[in-house]
Amino acid sequence: MVVRPGPPLTGRFAPPGDKSITHRACLLGALADGVTRVRNANPGADARATLAAVQMLGARVDVTGETLAITGAGGALAEPADVIDCGNSGTALRMLAGVLAPHPLLAVLTGDASLRARPMARVIEPLTAMGATLVARGGNRLPPLVVRGARLTGIRWRLEVASAQVASCVLLAGLGAAGETVVELPGPARDHTERMLPAFGIEVARADGDGAHRLAVRGPVVPRATGLTVPGDFSAAAFFLAAAAAAPGASVTATGVGLNPTRTGLLQVLEAMGARVETTVRGHEANEPVGDVTVTGPARLRAFDVPAAWLPRLVDEVPAWAVAAAAADGVSRVQGAAELRVKESDRLAALAQGLAALGIEVGEAPDGLAIRGGPVAGGRVRAHDDHRIAMAFAVLATRAGGEVSIDDARGIGTSYPSFGEQFRALGGATDGIPGELPSR
Ligand code: S3P
Repeated sequence: MVVRPGPPLTGRFAPPGDKSITHRACLLGALADGVTRVRNANPGADARATLAAVQMLGARVDVTGETLAITGAGGALAEPADVIDCGNSGTALRMLAGVLAPHPLLAVLTGDASLRARPMARVIEPLTAMGATLVARGGNRLPPLVVRGARLTGIRWRLEVASAQVASCVLLAGLGAAGETVVELPGPARDHTERMLPAFGIEVARADGDGAHRLAVRGPVVPRATGLTVPGDFSAAAFFLAAAAAAPGASVTATGVGLNPTRTGLLQVLEAMGARVETTVRGHEANEPVGDVTVTGPARLRAFDVPAAWLPRLVDEVPAWAVAAAAADGVSRVQGAAELRVKESDRLAALAQGLAALGIEVGEAPDGLAIRGGPVAGGRVRAHDDHRIAMAFAVLATRAGGEVSIDDARGIGTSYPSFGEQFRALGGATDGIPGELPSR
């Protein structure tokens, strides 16, 4: 993908439906009794992997544009006749492991080379403690992951990292387990599962205390089919919002975007750096606040150190943050971000390499980055098949001194197939974007 320098981005755009929420709606819809209608589903390859998986498990899926009608299996999933390919999606694989574990079936979950290098012990351990049998490659750590489901018993499980994927995996297994399942996180993570379960008729108890954030469900219980509209994806919108903060005179509005406070930490960071951020909540969809966000680029952006405690609220926005940090006066830092090394790519390394290749001074620590803002040179960078790395370099290139070419950028289609089209509409100078998929 090649991006030429261009004007500060300006205009309004509606990001695609939220990827995290789409995965959850498809999984709960597949378990439910009846037909669940999901409007504004994310159209990317990750969500399509989850949809293909639930069809292999006996759910029926009818797709009309971005609306899905999922006829659930009523709590009795079928044994899949083949290996389930989760593509690039860690969320799909980890949450599916939890969905499958309470059912009397054998399933094999795999994915692309990136996903097959991502750690799975974090889901294998709690599901094994509940009574399922799971085995994986590389000393029981890496996909392919074999799940032999069984009758499960609820457990109390404490997570070392505040991971929403793992908490959701255990809660989803808890729906099929006897008794109470309690998950304790060291702090809050994105809470889409907890917000969505009541829409499917399932109660979730939430409590904080003794330094832990606690979630509990009681099983066995079958979700009740429902209808919901997926809010726009904040993590997709983040690239254009950060690019606006980074360019004096830029002003970009994301409309219909999810404003769940467990996701929008980047907005506080941009504000602390001196950008103007205006947020208007217009209503609620799927128990999630939805509205519009406008970010306007100030004459000068100030460096800012992101407190480690904020990280879970911007875990997917560090690539977008790097775009703003590269434009700020002084050195900006993130720390406590070692998890970023096991995302779709090693994001700390990928950002450090690419920023350095474009003339930005960057320091890499085991758990963070330090970026000194400055002019961006043209050049060649690698996205490592990671959608968020590719989109970050694409918007960074708008203020480069020359053309930026981004290798391995095809991954953009995993979450944001219309990225290129929306980028161009806001003023971005680029031709075809690999990964621009025709909609379903
Ligand atoms: C996600 C949780 C986060 C995030 C991922 C989506 C989710 O991962 O990085 O893109 O939908 O629950 P972790 O829970 O592993 O931090």
